[in-house]
Amino acid sequence: MDLAGKKIVLGLTGGIACYKAAELTRALIKAGASVQVVMTDAATHFITPVTMQALSGQTVYTDQWDPRVANNMAHIDLTRGADAIVIAPCSADFIAKLAQGRCDDLLSTLCVARPMQVPLLVAPAMNVEMWQNPATQRNVQQIAADGITIMGPGVGEQACGETGLGRMLEPAQLLELICAAFQAKSLAGKKVLITAGPTFEAIDPVRGITNLSSGKMGYAIARAAYAAGAQVTLVSGPTALVAPYGVQRIDVTTARQMHDSVLAQVGGQEVFIAVAAVADWHVSNAAEQKIKKDGASGLPTLQFAPNPDILAAVAALPDRPYCVGFAAESEQLLQHAEAKRVKKNIPLLVGNIGHETFGKDDNELVLFDAQGHTHLARADKNSLAQQLIAAIAARL
Ligand code: C5P
Repeated sequence: MDLAGKKIVLGLTGGIACYKAAELTRALIKAGASVQVVMTDAATHFITPVTMQALSGQTVYTDQWDPRVANNMAHIDLTRGADAIVIAPCSADFIAKLAQGRCDDLLSTLCVARPMQVPLLVAPAMNVEMWQNPATQRNVQQIAADGITIMGPGVGEQACGETGLGRMLEPAQLLELICAAFQAKSLAGKKVLITAGPTFEAIDPVRGITNLSSGKMGYAIARAAYAAGAQVTLVSGPTALVAPYGVQRIDVTTARQMHDSVLAQVGGQEVFIAVAAVADWHVSNAAEQKIKKDGASGLPTLQFAPNPDILAAVAALPDRPYCVGFAAESEQLLQHAEAKRVKKNIPLLVGNIGHETFGKDDNELVLFDAQGHTHLARADKNSLAQQLIAAIAARL
């Protein structure tokens, strides 16, 4: 995730979720941003300015009348040069203030005083009844209509003991959405279907055959497609990864399940990106019961049957989406990958340079299309995914 050089004003308002703002500050800084914290008086009852100052490394402002500000215009100074203003947590009261354009403390004043090209993103955090209150819902609709981005809220257990909508999103989810705010909406409104991860082919109820795919590249592409404005469905083999925010994830285990799931979802999709490392075979004589180590028949003998080629099946559809395949070749990538693209009859094939990329956070790619090939230099998988999404959008 890349926020290098971005200046974020992080506003905190009163709510128990203020404790998550500490972690969000660290995540933003780790992603390369500088963070200027501004807190309402209520927020300082939940977390101290000292904590936020130590984490952000910058003076925290809480008061419109702060005598340290020589010109008394913190509301102007703090917003000029800012790349985004993020309010997390954003209380029901603060949403009401934004809806009315009120300016009765430093944070509300600087929101109104911001140049309109500075995006304002808010992460609501409140009790479920407060969130569902018609006045709050009216205010939320108003601020959305005014161009403010609303991140969440999430659903689940709340600090008050009640359950429902109103939880602030987790810092990692907010980071994804803040990064997404800086992405070009090159796939706005498009439907994108992606496969990711390995498949697992059973030998018996407790054993199986799989491969080293971690799913990181496919998940990064799903994240980048969502950030580019697409509606994303991710059909995923078994991975340890958390689904990117906003992406619909369907979990499958075997290649045949992945095939069936993809074909059930593919209608109406405009782009299909096959990133999964699908097993080429499954065990046709898989045992119903666990095979005994010291069984009478000695060592087991496995028989294999081919799995369906999911990408080939989608590419053969009469009204097929724009199909993108992946290839991991250990040698002669240029020849093998272009031959594979032609054989699979797809417009774009992405070659991994080497197969040691499995499980790593970075990668190096070559894109093959009818015009030739383009090299994407070694980079973090999220950054490569953004470049790939831009390349796909340009070809649609
Ligand atoms: O033919 P090969 O397996 O090398 O092709 C790799 C590409 O095909 C990847 O995009 C992979 O996701 C896809 N594939 C598939 N179904 C298979 C095998 C591969 O969709 N059974």
